[in-house]
Amino acid sequence: MSLIWKIEKQLMRKLGLSPMRRVIKGLKRRGVDVGKMQALDMFAGDGTGSVLCYSDSVQHLEAWELNPELVERLKKNLPRAVIRQVDSYEQMRVCEGKFDLIVIEAPLSLYGPNLEYCEHIGLFPRVLDLCKDDAVLILAVATEVEPLRQYVGDIDRVGTPEHLKRRAEFYKTDNPENIPLDKMVSAYSEHCTAGGFEVEWWFAVRRRYAHTLALKIRKRAS
Ligand SMILES: C[S@@+](CC[C@H](N)C(=O)[O-])C[C@H]1O[C@@H](n2cnc3c(N)ncnc32)[C@H](O)[C@@H]1O
Repeated sequence: MSLIWKIEKQLMRKLGLSPMRRVIKGLKRRGVDVGKMQALDMFAGDGTGSVLCYSDSVQHLEAWELNPELVERLKKNLPRAVIRQVDSYEQMRVCEGKFDLIVIEAPLSLYGPNLEYCEHIGLFPRVLDLCKDDAVLILAVATEVEPLRQYVGDIDRVGTPEHLKRRAEFYKTDNPENIPLDKMVSAYSEHCTAGGFEVEWWFAVRRRYAHTLALKIRKRAS
């Protein structure tokens, strides 16, 4: 990430104009009581990307991050949060907590020791086991692959045949390079149905190379 981009990000955060701040304002406008939420951030980094934009707005925050150096910085940046140095895919299977808000800003590429993970695709529908009956998922999503190629700049991880194949399967599309938001939401609705939830409403905020998508979900009556 260029220095100018970093400075712009910090400035946006300080002015309350970051995409995540706008998402939090959008949730409040729709009547969500963000101040009472128990939140989980599954890919927290050092927190400076977006966690700091909402951490003071929620009642309680648990944050997961794999990289030990980032975890140390995260602890300093978020002294009130519960921080765990974990692989979120493994932690998701043993976590017994339930959350009102789950933020998922996974790398928008292939990643992991053997590039076995792809964006947040492998989290569904299991991640829904961590949701309370009424919950909000906030996801970083990439509608277009080309801006990602330019941003991530790693041709082994972005836009490869494997990356596109995984996107095509998950979003049920034959054009994984370019997936409109409403098509993405239809796919999330299907994955939520598989996990016993339905999507009640959604909205998205545009970022430079992606979107931040908020999905309000509710447990389906059995
Ligand atoms: C896009 S960054 C998240 C930025 C963050 N939301 C912020 O506010 O700074 C993705 C993060 O996921 C972490 N990560 C990658 N694989 C992971 C895994 N399996 N489990 C947990 N964290 C992982 C990376 O180390 C990286 O910090």
